[in-house]
Amino acid sequence: MILKEKIRELRARFDGELAKAGTPEALEALRVAFLGKKGPVTDLMAELRNVEQSEKAEAGQLINTLKNELSEAIVKTGEALRAAALAAEIRRQKKYNPTLPARDAAGSYHPITLVQRELEEIFSSMGFTIEDYPEIVDDYHCFEALNIPKHHPARDMQDTYYIENGQLLKTHTSAAQNYIMKKYGAPLRAIFPGRCFRNEAIDACHENTFFQMEGIMIDENISISNLIYFMKTMLSEVFRRDIKVRLRPGFFPFVEPGFELDINCLICGGKGCPSCKNSGWLELCPCGMIHPNVLKAGGIDVDRYTGFAFGLGLTRLAMMKFGVKDIRDFNGGSLSALSQFVSE
Ligand code: PHE
Repeated sequence: MILKEKIRELRARFDGELAKAGTPEALEALRVAFLGKKGPVTDLMAELRNVEQSEKAEAGQLINTLKNELSEAIVKTGEALRAAALAAEIRRQKKYNPTLPARDAAGSYHPITLVQRELEEIFSSMGFTIEDYPEIVDDYHCFEALNIPKHHPARDMQDTYYIENGQLLKTHTSAAQNYIMKKYGAPLRAIFPGRCFRNEAIDACHENTFFQMEGIMIDENISISNLIYFMKTMLSEVFRRDIKVRLRPGFFPFVEPGFELDINCLICGGKGCPSCKNSGWLELCPCGMIHPNVLKAGGIDVDRYTGFAFGLGLTRLAMMKFGVKDIRDFNGGSLSALSQFVSE
């Protein structure tokens, strides 16, 4: 049968051409040439018309088989070409080998993380739990529960970023006090580090985003001496040397009495520099005895319990400990500035 002859001839020609098609473009051209509307396979189909009725079915099948075989061969060759191209590209680049050790990729902790972890260790050893609290809070927790009613002037110093639903980015870690008092009741010892936000004019010692670590201790007979003891212990552990401190009266509506605990500026040794606003002292840790209104709001029995609270400036502490002169370096994202610190 002449058709079989044609098919065999076509197949041989196709195989010859396929062996030469070395690129996806050549392969596509081959597909169009053989299987396209104007190709020989379509011609064969047309010739079916002239085939004897008795042989039509068989002839049709033969053409179909040819068509399928050619399509399959093209697909397979296409896959092989793509795989070969990928292998060649990998060989060419020779860069990506997932089994090689990473180069210069040993990470380092952010200096604030280092200081935070150190403090967490010190305070846990003194029986404090470590608490977490969200950065987006409501007005009640950030202000009202802390004895700062609406329109109180103390709010002026803590302007922050408000969200349309009335929530705000917390201005101080004190925002967690009420929640933690309600969670545990008295007696209680907890620290809660966190990121805080304020509307600040930014300079070497002010940032709109900074870290604090709050601590509260509530029990029977807690007094200012307990507060001073814990602060001194903590500072001598952190700096591993004697640190000069001074207590000044400080006003915060949620403590009474309230203090500012300053430390001698360790960057200039007390002579005065931009980091300490030329005063030789650095405000490090506002603190005081928790105001009875705050205890009450937290569900604590004020006839039985008293407590102290402190709001350590974690960012400040990191500046002091590592001698960072400009607070903006912490959020600047420069790896060369941030990767040089290690914990002791
Ligand atoms: N939350 C206060 C602030 O950020 C600091 C503070 C904490 C003061 C605890 C007293 C007691 O300004």
